[in-house]
Amino acid sequence: MLGIIGGSGLTQLSNLDVSHREIVRTPWGEPSAPLSFGRIGKQEVVFLARHGFGHTIPPHLVNYRANIDALKRVGATWIVSVASVGGIRADMGPGALVVPNQIIDYTSGRETSFQHADGQQVLHIDFTEPYDAGVRVALLTAAREQGEAVVDGGVYAATQGPRLETAAEINRLARDGADLVGMTGMPEAALAREADVPYGALCVVANWAAGRADSTHEIRFEHIEATLHSAMGRVRHLIEHLCGA
Ligand code: HPA
Repeated sequence: MLGIIGGSGLTQLSNLDVSHREIVRTPWGEPSAPLSFGRIGKQEVVFLARHGFGHTIPPHLVNYRANIDALKRVGATWIVSVASVGGIRADMGPGALVVPNQIIDYTSGRETSFQHADGQQVLHIDFTEPYDAGVRVALLTAAREQGEAVVDGGVYAATQGPRLETAAEINRLARDGADLVGMTGMPEAALAREADVPYGALCVVANWAAGRADSTHEIRFEHIEATLHSAMGRVRHLIEHLCGA
């Protein structure tokens, strides 16, 4: 079963034929929302709204552990995260879709691991390639078959939020090698790896990052909503294709 975590702009999947919803409890607390189960085409899907159905949970307060654990418990065997981001690299302007291949984590104070001092052997996961190669290929193939231009690869900078970055911070991220910036990619990706669930991300560029292009002096939120609204239609089509619909 495919688990889809929807971020800003994707609090529900209109093409998901929902059969039932389930409130799942985990040792880590409750996930952001009840899980929605259903099918897209032949693919069984479980959907979770990362920020809650009413978009009320900010990035730094998302219970990432409960979200990943809940998806695994109900039988998700792979996860696609849909996340909106700011674009830093020149070819990642508003409306671009990106399947990133690397992450730099700038978050702090989040629960980053399922491990706690319970007498279990300490586990160091390999995270050289933070996204699952198979999930990335599935996303890129679905996009190509559909004629949807998706950028293959990019370094995702995970920032703490919920505020957006300063222009100087974005310059620093660019110098570090980051191509796009978002607030929810970590620890989500690392927890999925710990849980041994293949995980990939489809990033939707909502705006130029602070200090870039038309965000030179400020980031205009009215542009973000319009961009996300039209891009999420393309994302839904891409997911349908990914599911063989
Ligand atoms: N920065 C961080 N996260 C974001 C942005 C941004 O500019 N746009 C959408 N999510």
